[in-house]
Amino acid sequence: MNINTAIQNAFLDLKRKNIKSALLDCEILMSQALNQHRSKVILNLDRQLNNKDYKVFRKLITSRLKNKPIAYLIGKKSFWKYEFEINDKVLIPRPDTELIIEQVLDVYKNKHNINFLEIGVGSGCIILSILKEKKSFFGKGVDLSKDSIKICKKNAINLNVSNRLKLFKSDIDNFNLGKYDLIISNPPYIKKFDLKNLDKDVFNYEPKLALDGGLDGLSEIRKVVRLSSELIKLNGKLIIEIAHDQKEMVKKMLNDNGFYVNKVAKDLANKNRCIVSTKIKFIN
Ligand SMILES: C[S@@+](CC[C@H](N)C(=O)[O-])C[C@H]1O[C@@H](n2cnc3c(N)ncnc32)[C@H](O)[C@@H]1O
Repeated sequence: MNINTAIQNAFLDLKRKNIKSALLDCEILMSQALNQHRSKVILNLDRQLNNKDYKVFRKLITSRLKNKPIAYLIGKKSFWKYEFEINDKVLIPRPDTELIIEQVLDVYKNKHNINFLEIGVGSGCIILSILKEKKSFFGKGVDLSKDSIKICKKNAINLNVSNRLKLFKSDIDNFNLGKYDLIISNPPYIKKFDLKNLDKDVFNYEPKLALDGGLDGLSEIRKVVRLSSELIKLNGKLIIEIAHDQKEMVKKMLNDNGFYVNKVAKDLANKNRCIVSTKIKFIN
């Protein structure tokens, strides 16, 4: 069988399962099976597939038919300007989260030697992208998941920023190290009872620890604001990602904890997604 026929058959299988971007998925999985760039696969559709490669391809398609996300099947995901190694123990980096990087670069355009903390590093997509962009910044990262810490460390080595990074496996509630100019976080913020309504790709495969924001979706955000309030310097910035319908509640939470809200940035779908705030007073 040639590559084209294998892709077309798999495409029909994915289509029948209503999997969006079925053709793209097949091409990506074929390039994974052949360990070749997608463009090379597309330019060689007439090439015959050997048995071994065909089996690998069909195994990947079978997993995709069970809704396993492409990023977990190929073990990587692009975010900002970089590629991150991932596995199914960490959240797949989302394009909307790049808003945090944009805000950081905007706020700290001409600033150097910033000491910052990320709460909930996951794959490291946020903290490592910032360290890549700002060569004089120092980052600390905390995550409750040891798998996240492990993969973030690996990505830091791949991106050559380990010398400006310290990672801690800890619950937000038990972390109390340092004082920071900037704190960033993309915390879990989905309401517990809404989790089951997520796409099957997400609900069945992505770690609940990275998604579950408790009964009202705000339990981890509350912890992030409380911890940040203690660990941030006066005039330091707190930049957090939120769900589109949490703006007012999080603004109030920030104000109650001595933060001034500078900006609410919108995501690619024009929904409120990221809040930039400044610590203006300490509250006893
Ligand atoms: C939404 S994910 C964000 C991951 C990554 N920063 C990103 O944007 O792709 C939230 C992260 O917070 C971590 N987390 C959840 N609850 C936590 C807690 N109580 N203490 C520390 N980390 C926690 C999860 O393990 C997960 O890696």
